[in-house]
Amino acid sequence: MSILHAKPLFNPMGDTDKNHRRMIGGNTTNLNDFNNMKYPWVSSWYRQAMNNFWIPEEINLNTDVKDYPLLPQPEREAYDKILSFLVFLDSIQTANLPCIGQYITANEVNLCLTIQGFQEAVHSQSYSYMLDSICSPVERDNILYQWKEDEHLLRRNTFIGDLYNEFQVKKDDVTLLRVMMANYILEGIYFYSGFMFFYNLGRNGKMPGSVQEIRYINRDENTHLWLFRSMIAELKREEPQLFTEENVEMLKAMLMEGVRQEIAWGHYVIGDNVQGLTKDMVTAYIKYLGNLRWMGLGFEAIYEGFTEEPESMAWVNQYSNANMVKTDFFEAKSTAYAKSAAILDDL
Ligand SMILES: [Fe+2]
Ligand SMILES: [Fe+2]
Repeated sequence: MSILHAKPLFNPMGDTDKNHRRMIGGNTTNLNDFNNMKYPWVSSWYRQAMNNFWIPEEINLNTDVKDYPLLPQPEREAYDKILSFLVFLDSIQTANLPCIGQYITANEVNLCLTIQGFQEAVHSQSYSYMLDSICSPVERDNILYQWKEDEHLLRRNTFIGDLYNEFQVKKDDVTLLRVMMANYILEGIYFYSGFMFFYNLGRNGKMPGSVQEIRYINRDENTHLWLFRSMIAELKREEPQLFTEENVEMLKAMLMEGVRQEIAWGHYVIGDNVQGLTKDMVTAYIKYLGNLRWMGLGFEAIYEGFTEEPESMAWVNQYSNANMVKTDFFEAKSTAYAKSAAILDDL
């Protein structure tokens, strides 16, 4: 384990030779030099993230305003709790990304983290816009801060919050790796029973505006997952001493805990009470995602029998398909969906 030092912001003696550039422990000038990038994935990531720009208020929520009070009780409660969790996740992401950036010495990667931070702010704002549209200010505040009172939700937020807080006090490379893994789990596992719930509303013809907001958010989250997967992969190449058997087991245990919590959360908020979803569907889908994410880091599948997307969940992809988002949702769902090829992730 090595201690990390926050990089100086003004550093005229920093390296300009990209061959000397490193993810951590390098000597960066912090200059935004777009023609001198070391990591080949950065320019396509940057372009994709910029092309994904969207504005929450451009999505019409009139139908949602009418639908929301008519949702069956379990569905409305699930909507509220899931939104409360998502608001928390996007807010803590917005706050934490600059803390990670202070220790990343590849400036081109810092550019990506900055764009990601901006997008997380837009995501939290989109939830606010949804709540402002469909419920009263009192109900909105209850939903925003539900994580303070709902014990299950508080436990979940505490797990991720503690991991992020740990890096506030322990500045070393292993703790940085842990906080990066926590990001990867958040982006790749935690959002997904929420997304699945919204897409299920969509296929039942409910809350179309909220569904569309979530589709744009999902498209951004795919790039965030791509970013953190790439950052961890670069660390594996540059800092192989960090990936001891013991540390890999630690990362795997974190992922498995994330999967366990996401399944328990899905059972709690969705259960068997929402039309079109069951506990078994949630379990199978989250285990499949757990395998996908762990294999995405170059390791073997963890959950036997869950390496293929569960057939019962194929519809999730139709909604989250990144290439379909730019098409008008209402017109696209019957025709273009049918001819679109499934895109898993940008991974
Ligand atoms: Fe986000
Ligand atoms: Fe994100």
